[in-house]
This record gives sequence, C-alpha cells and structure tokens, in this order.
Amino acid sequence: MTGVGTNRVAIIVDGRAVAADVEPRTLLADFLRDTCGAVAVHIGCGEGTCGACTVALDGIAVRSCLMLAVQADGGTIVTAAGLAALDGPPDAQNLTPLQLAFRAHHALQCGFCTPGILVATALFLRANPHPTRAEIVDHLSGHLCRCTGNVPIIAAIEAAAGATAP
Ligand code: FES
Ligand code: FES
Repeated sequence: MTGVGTNRVAIIVDGRAVAADVEPRTLLADFLRDTCGAVAVHIGCGEGTCGACTVALDGIAVRSCLMLAVQADGGTIVTAAGLAALDGPPDAQNLTPLQLAFRAHHALQCGFCTPGILVATALFLRANPHPTRAEIVDHLSGHLCRCTGNVPIIAAIEAAAGATAP
C-alpha cells in the first residue's frame, strides 16, 4: 500500500525489479543508491554538471541527480554495474569491451567519474560506433574528470569504437 505522502515507484535496475514507496521529492540518484543498492551510481555535484550520476533510463542517458524517482516509475535503468546490457558480453573477468579499453589505456584513476562515463559512452558508441576524435571530445564535455585530463579516456573510447555491441 502506498503510504501517506508517498508514491509507489517500480523500476527495473540492472535486470532486477525494485518497488518501493518514496516521497515525491526523492531524487532518482538517491533512490538508486539507497533503496536499490545501486552504488555504482556516483553523486558528485548533485546539480547536473559533473555527469557522475549518469544512468541509462529506457536507453537514454540521464542525470539521476536531476530526476525524481517518481519520474522513472515503470522504467528500465542500466547502471555501470549492468554495463554488459549496453556494451556487449563481458570476458572471463566480467569486464565489457569498454571496461577493457579503459583498463588498457589507464582511463581511470580514482574512478569516481568512471561509472557515469562508461554508461554514457556505451550509449554514445551504440548511436555512433565510429566517432571522430572531435565527437568524442564533445561527448565528454558533459563529464568532469578531475584525475586523468581526459586524454586517456579519449584514447580508450577510440580503441573501443567498433567493438561495442550493436
Ligand atoms: S551528480 Fe549528477 S551531474 Fe553531478
Ligand atoms: S578518474 Fe578520478 S575523477 Fe575521473
């Protein structure tokens, strides 16, 4: 039963069905982390600037810090923990092609920005499997990385281009 002042939200998160009553003001990012246990969703700026909280909602990259949980009701969400659903099957170490490229090119250091970049980039490569360097740079303009200077991330995306599942 829905409680007073709450709304029922039912979503699929990385293949798992979750339903809970939430306050209307509950942010999607908080719902994913606190209720769904989706801790691959990172919260950095909390105001739509850094991209760390990016998830795929029904196949579209969204900033979960800018959405309410109730807006995602009935939706299917993929976080970095379920990246294979966007990026193709993982290898024996459970790493997807994009993750392998990030590892090979040292495209992460602290890793805080990485989950959001991986999800957004998997969607980006599905839409544009052979991006130019300029398109990759433009794509990354929506994601802040304090550690890498972006050069290794660009190299990793260039290497992964074409290897992502259609
Ligand atoms: S935490 Fe959502 S964009 Fe920074
Ligand atoms: S690897 Fe540290 S913020 Fe990007």
